[in-house]
Amino acid sequence: MKKTCFTILLCFAWGLSSYAQTIQQTLTLREDNVEEILNAMTIEEKVSLLVGGLGSLVPGAAGYTREIERLGIPMTVLADGPAGLRIQPKREGTDQTFYCTGFPTSTLLASSWDPELVETVTTAMGNEVLEYGVDVLLAPGMNLHRNPLCGRNFEYYSEDPLLSGKMAAAYVRGIQKNGVGTSVKHFAANNQETNRLENDARISNRALRELYLKNFEIAIKEGKPWTVMSSYNKLNGEYTQQKHGLLTTVLRDEWGFDGIVMTDWGVKDGTVKSAKAGNDLMEPGRQVEIDRLLAAVNEGTISQEELDRNVRRMLQYIVKTPHFKGYKFSNKPDLKAHAVVARKAAEESIILLRNECNTLPLKGSEKVALYGLTSVDFFGIGTGSGEVNTKHIVNMQEAMTEAGFTLDENLAEFYRTCYATQSATEKMEGSAIDKRHRSEPLISVKAIERQAKDNDVAVVVLGRIAGEGADRAVKDDFELTSIERELLQNISMSYHKAGKKVVVVLNIVGVIETASWKHLVDAIVLPWAPGQEGAHAVADILKGKVNPSGKLPMTFPINYMDMPSSKNFPYYWDMTKGRKGERPNVDYTDYAEGIWVGYRYFQTNNVEVSYPFGYGLSYTTFSYSKPKVKADKDGFVATITVTNTGKVAGREVVELYVATPSGGLEKPSRELKAFAKTKLLAPGESETLTMKVSAYELASFNEEHSAWETAAGTYEVLFGSSVSDIRCTATCKMKARSWEVHDVLGNPKE
Ligand code: BGC
Repeated sequence: MKKTCFTILLCFAWGLSSYAQTIQQTLTLREDNVEEILNAMTIEEKVSLLVGGLGSLVPGAAGYTREIERLGIPMTVLADGPAGLRIQPKREGTDQTFYCTGFPTSTLLASSWDPELVETVTTAMGNEVLEYGVDVLLAPGMNLHRNPLCGRNFEYYSEDPLLSGKMAAAYVRGIQKNGVGTSVKHFAANNQETNRLENDARISNRALRELYLKNFEIAIKEGKPWTVMSSYNKLNGEYTQQKHGLLTTVLRDEWGFDGIVMTDWGVKDGTVKSAKAGNDLMEPGRQVEIDRLLAAVNEGTISQEELDRNVRRMLQYIVKTPHFKGYKFSNKPDLKAHAVVARKAAEESIILLRNECNTLPLKGSEKVALYGLTSVDFFGIGTGSGEVNTKHIVNMQEAMTEAGFTLDENLAEFYRTCYATQSATEKMEGSAIDKRHRSEPLISVKAIERQAKDNDVAVVVLGRIAGEGADRAVKDDFELTSIERELLQNISMSYHKAGKKVVVVLNIVGVIETASWKHLVDAIVLPWAPGQEGAHAVADILKGKVNPSGKLPMTFPINYMDMPSSKNFPYYWDMTKGRKGERPNVDYTDYAEGIWVGYRYFQTNNVEVSYPFGYGLSYTTFSYSKPKVKADKDGFVATITVTNTGKVAGREVVELYVATPSGGLEKPSRELKAFAKTKLLAPGESETLTMKVSAYELASFNEEHSAWETAAGTYEVLFGSSVSDIRCTATCKMKARSWEVHDVLGNPKE
């Protein structure tokens, strides 16, 4: 009897323990049990998942999501940024370093007009994200270049939404191939840094739909990012992070986004409104946000469905992450291999703006006088969260020497000493010198004349740096400083007198004024901020080892005020009124120019520019064949054959613009609708490029009907080497089509 009882007890105990084990097992998050986990979560656990937390898994990472150990929900790691992973390069207790590759900045990548190249770059970048134990890269940044002074333009792509959207989609695909996520940011209308936390961007629905949201729409649909980051600013009176119409109706219902939305790094007071609007994750996360959400759940201000909806999305995100999957990251990505990718990307993207009498390429054996402080302190990337902690940024002195040029050593030493003195002052004063306002040393005319005799050519490197938190200024930033101007004038005069050429390298993070001085120099190369290896690419272009094939992703105006947005950008207000009283463009910004941004304005109104959108020279020439344009049931397909008619191998970007039939909405005279880049064509070689444009892509936004409308009639299809250099045209008839969307974005006048 005793034995039987004992056996029964044993069986009972075993049964209990295996039951508990089963429960335990089902209570661990798996890819296929998100709903079960959701049901098992307490309210406190749910809320904790919606608010970021502190962590130390990856020093230097920008943020974390919280762990719930009981349910096997791991912490996940979020880190910046667009030009490469931004983490701390050194850690306590180890000699190991954690440097990342500084890839070319987004503006340079966009200058490649080559989505495949971008995807290759970000495939390498994403590998660093994975191997350093990060789950989501907080990039790409993709606000539009509405105005040249926005301090973060280098983190963004273009003034055109199609180019911007295609680049961002490719960026996302490359990163996510590695099994890590991206965060497309800053959604939306974060087009200035002045008062970026509070500025109210007042934008018409047409400009929003056709420009400021269009690039995001393309990136979301074609890239499928895991996450989106809402911006700090307001849009038509409401913080974007609290705007249900933006974060739910447009982003999810209309565009089909199924990932999570996180705030930019600061949650507004209306945390509850943010959660309800569809902002799933509050970053970087504070206790007060947890308290507010908990109170709202208890009071019923947030319904159980709303809470579960956001938590479900968080769980669906978490099961995709390397941390969830237990990926054993190495902390040893192949930085050498990635440096090669970074260099190649810069080579394929750098723009040649001017090349009088074939000044470039140089022979490679010249003795070069290299001018400018930036030749030593080269800007690979910008500042702020878009910066990358690289081991080294190659400068122009190093790159030119490695490329085989002989440098004027006295001059090179002079600049090294100036830079060392500045760095010593920095150290002594304990704070970094603001490089936005660093002053070039002046060199006497006598010295320049001597240098002109001693050297074969002058290469002048001009630099501009900017970054998060501040916009640029017109004086001494968009425009040259008086010292730079004087230096250029003296170099131009002395070298030309000696029968020698002057080349300028623009190592700049945003558009500058070029019209007043470009005639002084023979050639201008524009590498933007080209990443840690970019200076090598510049040297290879100067030498002709690489034939430039980049084109401008925005317009270079003659004067700053030529930009229609300039009247409604902080600088104008500062300049004319000072910051007193009501502060337009600080408290709020009226996007009064509507859709007339960049080339859409300049081209339509025949306003002269310094360099047009889509412009870039090559060391060879190309001919375009007669194009074919064939309507199909969804739009049209265009083909064109490009032939290299010059003497060296090169690549050409063909830009397809469309002029819509008149009648109906007022429209730009031409708009970019597709583009394609040839492979490297040997002299005499041809390639046929195919570009597809859908009827939806041809549509404009009619506010009255809250609908995209493709007008019926004959469309002119223009094939250009830039927006103002159209090589051939064709026509195509389209039927009227329309797509109604929700009228939920508010009104600038409300
Ligand atoms: C920036 C974001 C960045 C975040 C985290 C914010 O201030 O606007 O772009 O991803 O900080 O560093």
